[in-house]
Amino acid sequence: MNHPFVKYVYSDIDSLSRGAAEAITRLAQTRVRASGRFTVALSGGSTPRSTYSLLAVEPLAREMPWAKTRIYFGDERHVPHDHPDSNFRMANEALLQRVPIPVENVNPIPTDHEDPAACAEWYDDLLHAHFQRRTDDLPGFDLILLGIGPDGHIASIFAGTPAETEMQKWVTWCDPVLTNPAIKPAVKRITITQAIIWRSAQVFVLATGGQKAMNLAKIFADAEPPKPPVARLLRECKGTVSFFLDNAAAALI
Ligand code: 6PG
Repeated sequence: MNHPFVKYVYSDIDSLSRGAAEAITRLAQTRVRASGRFTVALSGGSTPRSTYSLLAVEPLAREMPWAKTRIYFGDERHVPHDHPDSNFRMANEALLQRVPIPVENVNPIPTDHEDPAACAEWYDDLLHAHFQRRTDDLPGFDLILLGIGPDGHIASIFAGTPAETEMQKWVTWCDPVLTNPAIKPAVKRITITQAIIWRSAQVFVLATGGQKAMNLAKIFADAEPPKPPVARLLRECKGTVSFFLDNAAAALI
């Protein structure tokens, strides 16, 4: 074992979501006690929606230190925030608009500039402004939530795009359709990069279904697999990476 991985396996999405939501709440309380705040980057996709919904209702809604929680996003589709494909819209509907979090604590990735590179640059500046003054060893998010795409991507770091090899900027953009026409939704993305994922104190990866099993096995495999998925970069994380999986996703690990 030369990776920072922890694995939790559940029988279904409901128990997985409960486990993830409770772990997020415990971590938030711990970080607020230790540092006075909790910084978390949310993921998009469909898997985390039920986790977000559980954080929005009792008992976790009451236990979460909302006033001290700062919300960020790991990636965003280049669509307006009220578009059905928007990651912000999903998180807002399932969680943010339902809890007493101060509006200034919520930092969505901007999508209102027609050039996604400008949106990425703006968010990169924001993250540097918010995190550069941290003095602890891991000057990044307390927690990044991630899913795994069917092609093995995390956040919106897609194989074959410049986002895959970006090591300097904390935020960049890519057009996944250029390298994989099957990607849905077929829109440009703005994404955090491995440069910031690696320095996060904790990463929680939420994944369900047999379609993810092979890529998860390739992430956990100690020998370099053929065609390693983008998500294998998680092996380089300095913090802990916890996988919240259902039986089907965990079947080949
Ligand atoms: C997105 C993502 C992406 C997602 C995975 C898993 O914007 O689509 O952030 O990385 O997390 O594709 O998505 P599912 O949870 O829908 O399987």
